[in-house]
Amino acid sequence: MKTLKFAVLPGDYIGPEVMSVALDVLKAATEPAGIKLDYTEAHVGGAGIDNEGKALPDSTIKVCEEADAILFGSIGGPKWENLPPAEQPERAALLPIRKHFNLFANLRPGLLYQELTDASPLKAERIPEGIDMVCVRELTGGIYFGPKRTETLEDGDIQATDEMVYKKSEIERILDVAIASAKARSGKICSVDKANVLTTSVLWRKTATEYVAKHAPEIELSHMYVDNAAMQMARDPNQFDVIVTENMFGDIISDEMGIVCGSLGMLSSASLGTGKNKYDLPFGLYEPSGGTAPDIAGKGIANPCAQILSAALMLRYSFGENEIAEKIEKAVKQAVMDGFRTGDISFGKPSIGTKEMAAAIIERL
Ligand code: IPM
Ligand code: MG
Repeated sequence: MKTLKFAVLPGDYIGPEVMSVALDVLKAATEPAGIKLDYTEAHVGGAGIDNEGKALPDSTIKVCEEADAILFGSIGGPKWENLPPAEQPERAALLPIRKHFNLFANLRPGLLYQELTDASPLKAERIPEGIDMVCVRELTGGIYFGPKRTETLEDGDIQATDEMVYKKSEIERILDVAIASAKARSGKICSVDKANVLTTSVLWRKTATEYVAKHAPEIELSHMYVDNAAMQMARDPNQFDVIVTENMFGDIISDEMGIVCGSLGMLSSASLGTGKNKYDLPFGLYEPSGGTAPDIAGKGIANPCAQILSAALMLRYSFGENEIAEKIEKAVKQAVMDGFRTGDISFGKPSIGTKEMAAAIIERL
């Protein structure tokens, strides 16, 4: 019998609520295939600070190290907002966990079902068939992880510096992920940079051009400046299929993609590492893109779909269970099409809670 060993880090506010039902769905989807779940829960984010004095406790890292993948909830919120910036849950847990496990490739599928085009702030006629794209964001380099300093200058002024640093090898490995994604989709990649201003972007563009030409000549590669990409995303998101971009641009562009796709409650993500697990597949961290939603926490009304879809991505990328992943994705879509909607995607019509949504999905597996 196959046993899937993973770490479960529910986090804060709605994190544990949606995690709990995602695990129910995962169990219901894997059981018929004779697959067993072996997961260990650990604290992260505010829950880490409150219980163990640290946003990313050593005990949590250990649980993750012993697992083949991490299913992550959401962290942060008003309770910890007054901590010094470097101790805030997001910065003190998410960035270090990405670095620790070399989670360099962040895949964010931008998916808006045709049935949900009303949820997008874009006019329905711009996206008649919904949206289907993916943003591949470099996640462990660039300005987030470059040298930082704050200093007082000779004239008494204060200066802060964040350096944006990229190696060619870091660009090539994220291109590999984008190429694999594009091969499974339409064969098109748009590389987003700011090569008219930044040296790192000049290297990025040159590397992308040469690497794709050499290793995947069948891929249609285009380049776009990030400011234009932000504008194009709001104008016509379906001109994109696979976007590949550096860390900070990807952070910004993927949030924009999230909102044009309607509710953040539907958006999953996978952060894949350089390390391989015992299945010889990437060790990865899987998390919803939407955040902790403190305003609705504890009410049982949060949309669990992003967490459930993230669990499906874990099955696909870290456990090689493509068929079951697809089954879950289809069940989520079917439930939404059949009119089962949480408040964020119900457009004023009657809505259901987190558990009912999960139950509707399980019924359709
Ligand atoms: C994200 C988040 C994080 C990031 C923050 C919370 C550090 O915005 O995952 O997109 O900027 O990477
Ligand atoms: Mg972000």
